[in-house]
Amino acid sequence: MKRIAVLTSGGDAPGMNAAVRAVVRTGLDKNWQVFGIQHGYAGLIAGDFVALGLRDVGGIIQRGGTFLGSARSSEFKTEEGLKKAVRALYERDIEGLVVIGGNGSQTGAFALSQSGVPVVGVASTIDNDLGGSETTIGVDTALNIALEAIDRLKVTASSHQRAFLVEVMGRDCGYLALMSAIAGGAEAVVIPEVKSDPENIAAELRSAYDRGKQHGLVVVAEGANYNAEGLVRYFREHRQRLGFELRAITLGHVQRGGAPTAFDRLLGTRFGAAATGYLAEGRYGVLAGLVKGEVGATPLAEVIANKKPLDFQLMELAKVLAK
Ligand code: F6P
Repeated sequence: MKRIAVLTSGGDAPGMNAAVRAVVRTGLDKNWQVFGIQHGYAGLIAGDFVALGLRDVGGIIQRGGTFLGSARSSEFKTEEGLKKAVRALYERDIEGLVVIGGNGSQTGAFALSQSGVPVVGVASTIDNDLGGSETTIGVDTALNIALEAIDRLKVTASSHQRAFLVEVMGRDCGYLALMSAIAGGAEAVVIPEVKSDPENIAAELRSAYDRGKQHGLVVVAEGANYNAEGLVRYFREHRQRLGFELRAITLGHVQRGGAPTAFDRLLGTRFGAAATGYLAEGRYGVLAGLVKGEVGATPLAEVIANKKPLDFQLMELAKVLAK
């Protein structure tokens, strides 16, 4: 009988619970013993392991967040921390570890794999900036939450002829901002990958106003050179005429907290099931992700070496559609 463990690490993402549930139930189906590690790598170092049975993962597929808890551990990034983590697994005879998380988490998974731990990653982050997976657990839900906010803001913006700067998450990746701008019909989008000039954004808002639009909506990525607050300050200091009265909203963690969409539940389930499949086949040091529309494995070394590129054609399309 194999003994495996599963942890969720980094920023939580809606759909992580579906992935844990799939790891546990497909693992138990193989007659393995499955342990959950609480609070990510911090819990791994501290030895927070709990045996998980079929009923322990009941009623979680529809819940956002992660019932195992998550954390960002600075100790794990040290040599000593990594050694403690390896020891904790070794002492409990763990023969396979599933790491559900994004870039930082999979970098950690790769380090464990280099230390001889049989590890499989599961692609999960709302940012969609992880190589080795066309989309990741949580992206769809986060996008839908951003869209719901954008749709509502447009309604009230139109009533008052206002412009809203809506700041979305994504760290240094503009995917969430660009996609929610296109799907939400925004007038402009500001992303980290393209250095933005506030003068141009002001001109776009002014032009939208002069063309008779009742609202102006700009989606701003949190990692852009000007975030929403920075733009408001700039417009105020430079007394920019925008036409519209200006307001700014930061969605922040609201985007991460929602119940997972059907898409994210299914993605988490498929990735989680694939992860135990790879462990069973002895395919270690890989990430379970979406490759050419199918669930596939990509070596973790490749995943962490290559930053996922943004489709800049969509940036051009967003401009055309904003007319
Ligand atoms: O990586 C997911 C993410 O939500 C980013 O979009 C954001 O920049 C970051 O995590 C926020 O991290 P924390 O929850 O630790 O503040």
